[in-house]
Amino acid sequence: MRLKKLLLINFKNLPQAEITLADGINCFVGDNGAGKTNILDAVHYLSMSKSAFTMTDGQSVHHGEEFFVTEGSYLTDTGAMELVNCSFSRKGGKVLKRNGKEYERIADHVGGFPVVISSPRDTELIMDAAEERRRYLNSFISQLDRAYLASMMRYNTVLAERNKFLKSSSDEAMLQIYDMQLAEHGTRVYERRKEIIERMQPMVAEYYGTLSEDREQVEMVYRSELEQMPLSEVLLRNRERDIVNQFTTAGVHRDDIIFRIGGYPLRKYGSQGQQKSFLIALKLAQYRLLAEATGEKPILLLDDLFDKLDLGRVEKLLALVGGDDFGQILITDCNKLRLESTLERADKEYSLFMVEGGDVKR
Ligand SMILES: Nc1ncnc2c1ncn2[C@@H]1O[C@H](COP(=O)(O)OP(=O)(O)O)[C@@H](O)[C@H]1O
Ligand SMILES: [Mg+2]
Repeated sequence: MRLKKLLLINFKNLPQAEITLADGINCFVGDNGAGKTNILDAVHYLSMSKSAFTMTDGQSVHHGEEFFVTEGSYLTDTGAMELVNCSFSRKGGKVLKRNGKEYERIADHVGGFPVVISSPRDTELIMDAAEERRRYLNSFISQLDRAYLASMMRYNTVLAERNKFLKSSSDEAMLQIYDMQLAEHGTRVYERRKEIIERMQPMVAEYYGTLSEDREQVEMVYRSELEQMPLSEVLLRNRERDIVNQFTTAGVHRDDIIFRIGGYPLRKYGSQGQQKSFLIALKLAQYRLLAEATGEKPILLLDDLFDKLDLGRVEKLLALVGGDDFGQILITDCNKLRLESTLERADKEYSLFMVEGGDVKR
């Protein structure tokens, strides 16, 4: 998958931009606050129909404006041209179109234009609560399996209904019905998560080993109450507690992923550089799984390439992503000379864009 051209109107601090991208490495350089990350986020929007960073679509509309437009012309790995247009207006909401035709359901788009982003914000995956890791997992698995997204959405709908019900009733017959539905959708969610994490684990370890020259061992482990017993039983065992608490205290909405380095929690015992290397290894593993599942090489977005990494690790990363397993890459950095010299030492061809105050120039 290659993004040939990106068009932006009123997207965050970018009033208007038309960017013609190269197939390989595209570098965006400029000072802090210039709009580099916003460009990558626009690409994320086109694939996922939402920001990688902000919670609401309205936040992505240029201050004082009514709407934003993002448009991407893509060339798929099978040679087809595709036009994706994602716009949002404060009055009319979001509209997502593929080749001029509006999607009936935005969920149908997810996975068709695979993207992987690595950014300084990823540390939230390590530092924050389990919810952040579940959000990541959901977003990523949705890209490679639309049925997963459907199961997850149905599970969440039933869960919300069950929680609402528990606020005013403890009728066992009704709870039984909710539990059957939760068990059906939740079990699918569990099985897919488990399979994906088990496939990812060795890839993460391998990429981490390459980046760190095998200095430490890392692992990721899936944590779910369903490891011990089926979801129907989990729900039954916790029913009394749910009635007392008036919400659903157990289920796949409580799952987590444990990250370890040298056998210890990465959050407590990993240095910033080790944590960052782990996160990059995670994203590269995600990339590989997505490529396998969709048959398209995703677009790789590397925001703030040098963030928390020493030069050696950046060079290893560039050697990895410059190889045949990867496709088009968008990189941002605030230091033009550093980025150029590193890419030249790595003997990689690249296109350079200067970003300044919301303006993009080649
Ligand atoms: N909706 C918006 N309207 C106007 N400016 C915005 C909007 N959202 C974010 N910005 C601005 O965009 C700038 C940050 O751009 P960003 O892409 O993160 O910079 P960087 O080049 O450092 O990555 C900030 O100055 C921020 O205030
Ligand atoms: Mg930035």
